[in-house]
Amino acid sequence: MTNGRPPADPARPDRRVELPPARTSDGPGLWEALRTRRSVRKYLRLSLGLQDLSQLLWAAQGLTSSRGPRGLRTAPSAGACYPIDTYVAVGEVADLEPGLWRYEVDGHGLELTRPGDLRADLARAALGQTFLAICPAVFCFTLVLERTAARYGERAFRYACLDCGHLAQNLALAAAGLGYGTCMVGAFDDTAVAEVLGLDPTDPREVPLYLVPVGRPA
Ligand SMILES: Cc1cc2nc3c(=O)[nH]c(=O)nc-3n(C[C@H](O)[C@H](O)[C@H](O)COP(=O)(O)O)c2cc1C
Repeated sequence: MTNGRPPADPARPDRRVELPPARTSDGPGLWEALRTRRSVRKYLRLSLGLQDLSQLLWAAQGLTSSRGPRGLRTAPSAGACYPIDTYVAVGEVADLEPGLWRYEVDGHGLELTRPGDLRADLARAALGQTFLAICPAVFCFTLVLERTAARYGERAFRYACLDCGHLAQNLALAAAGLGYGTCMVGAFDDTAVAEVLGLDPTDPREVPLYLVPVGRPA
């Protein structure tokens, strides 16, 4: 099981991709990443390598320990409930078909949940922020509140938003370290983004929370 979801359909192996292992030691300097990170809204039309995508997904919320019922990840989470799921709207990533891919934290893999290039739809849903259609990939973070609410009740929404900030910042710093730009995008039409992600906008069990484009700065 990944995050309480059934594993990818074994009859459709084409829908699952194992990511190359991420580097978990050495790598870019933290101070320089902190100093150089800036919101980037102009991207080159250059594709993203699968190794870099793997690194960025791992940085956002990859597994770093098998302790506890869900393991522990690169980003902290209140009560280790991990209410945020990560999708990547892939436009131009080497060896990955365009579409919406969900990150499977346990197996460090991706599952295709919607085929097709969704970046232009995301840009429209994000009130015309056209850079979402230019960057090679958009990370889309969704909230499955129940995972945290089961333990923390009314406090859960606050905790889950804090969780999301942590993993988005991990992503932004890792991207900066690898020479990529990002921009946090919180301004969007919730219903429209849910539809692009293939979620039922009337179902509060999983809702879009944050979009983060990644690409080489122009
Ligand atoms: C919660 C949040 C939501 C944001 N939403 C947007 C957005 O929808 N569009 C955008 O262009 N920038 C957005 N930003 C980026 C901010 O405008 C940016 O971080 C700020 O201007 C500071 O610049 P810096 O990130 O380069 O340091 C958002 C940032 C945060 C933290």
